Amino acid sequence: MLKKIHPTHTMAWEKLLRHYKEIKKVHLKDLFKDKKRFEKFSIEFEDILFDYSKNKINERTIELFIELADEMALEKAIASMFEGDRINETENRAVLHTALRSFKQKYVHTGSHELYKNIENVRNKMRSFSNDVRSGKWIGYSGKKITDVVNIGIGGSDLGPYMVCEALKHYADGPDLHFVSNVDGAHISETFKKLDPETTLFLIASKTFTTQETMTNAFTARDWFLKKAKDQKQVKKHFAALSTNTEKVVEFGIDKENIFEFWDFVGGRYSLWSAIGMSIAVSIGYERFEELLKGAEAADHHFRTADYKKNIPVIMGMLGVWYADFFGAECEMVLPYDQYLHRFPAFLQQLSMESNGKSVSRDGSKVNYRTGQILLGEPGTNGQHSFYQLIHQGTHLIPADFLCAKEPLNELADHHCKLQSNFLAQTEALMIGRTKDEVIEMLEKSNVPETEARKVYLHKVFKGDNPTNSIIYDKLTPYALGKLIALYEHKVFVQGVIWNIYSFDQWGVELGKELAGKILSELKDKKVEAPHDCSTEGLLKHLRKGGK
Ligand code: F6P
Repeated sequence: MLKKIHPTHTMAWEKLLRHYKEIKKVHLKDLFKDKKRFEKFSIEFEDILFDYSKNKINERTIELFIELADEMALEKAIASMFEGDRINETENRAVLHTALRSFKQKYVHTGSHELYKNIENVRNKMRSFSNDVRSGKWIGYSGKKITDVVNIGIGGSDLGPYMVCEALKHYADGPDLHFVSNVDGAHISETFKKLDPETTLFLIASKTFTTQETMTNAFTARDWFLKKAKDQKQVKKHFAALSTNTEKVVEFGIDKENIFEFWDFVGGRYSLWSAIGMSIAVSIGYERFEELLKGAEAADHHFRTADYKKNIPVIMGMLGVWYADFFGAECEMVLPYDQYLHRFPAFLQQLSMESNGKSVSRDGSKVNYRTGQILLGEPGTNGQHSFYQLIHQGTHLIPADFLCAKEPLNELADHHCKLQSNFLAQTEALMIGRTKDEVIEMLEKSNVPETEARKVYLHKVFKGDNPTNSIIYDKLTPYALGKLIALYEHKVFVQGVIWNIYSFDQWGVELGKELAGKILSELKDKKVEAPHDCSTEGLLKHLRKGGK
């Protein structure tokens, strides 16, 4: 089980507080007087280069964080996760998404033989199903080949597979993929416009098979299909389920043969490696899906075996804690200079914020320090023309991860060079900034009259001193993507251990779901179930007025 101590009660925390008071005064660019900084604070792991030298740290910072990790028993926590201990204590579950991608089967002990057998069986079933759909062996009720596959799911049953399908679009050579998540009827209606029931396959992706949004969309999809197919028996050829809840799937009317199982030890936001990844296998082929898993397996091995000083997720996690709890940063950004990764920040939002958005510690007491950060992000260079202004000159400290491929997947004139020059320029600008003297000199050189210069110069000063990480991978392959995702998963884990919180439950989503259920009947039946506050009451009345 995980250790239950407050990080703020450790010796290392005290030391870090004292160290922070010193280092916060040093501007980042002054830290670069040490010409060996890049060498000292960068890590190479296979084709990934992780440069964290542009952070407000020195060797002492890392040493102290290692002391903190030791006091918080990080090593034991990592072993507990990989070995299948029930570290998700509030749900009494193991956390074994890593077993789904463990081809070498190194780490799991408890009941591992059967567990691996089950995982392998589902993988084999996924392989043959996705092959059949892609090759045209699997045909629709009227004898036509499947041309479109719709994944209906939400949260982890959507964000992961959707992000991966977008990221690996370059390799997509299967049927067209669509993702429907929102209960807003606009989402499925607009998707239907592109589809023909005779050639469409629906994947109903839901761990619980009870999620309101997913089930509503699934029933709507079935009605839409039956309107043309007429015969209930044909559902078999057009609906498959990716779920842990066989009973509910059968109740819905999906054939048992078309159920792709996974297990309660796989959290929703960690489920793209399971049967939930079926849309990925259909889109890029099963072999490439396995490459994705193998990339993640390599990152798992790195996480388990690399020295903390050379361990990317450990360092990333520590830096996150450093800025959240010592510098008071509220937000962090992930900025991929890779258009294929345009859904990566959205995926990471659930991964990080649903995992570490907690305020009760593992011993049940309230935390008195900051946990989970707000994560935002958009692909570069687009973000530069939108919100970067606030990072450069606003009042917040916003640490940011910049990601970029060494080689492009599309060779087009000098696009990639321009993309990379922006990637490099932004991290440099955020670090060095531009001083008042430099601005004045610039204005003088451009012959701006002194009175005018005095008025504007402050607006042109850049404080700099903003920390960034740079992550470069050779090429966005399935293997590289698998590694990137898993590194971030482990970063989130490390932070949860240091923050002494449970990262694998999500009780915070329940209250809204419960109230929505009650309000739904009030909206539909026009009756009041519960006394509401006057705002909710007023809004409810307004929505009913003239509505159906
Ligand atoms: O509401 C949050 C959540 O439980 C997520 O954790 C999960 O990924 C999502 O809903 C979807 O759940 P399911 O796969 O069971 O439909």
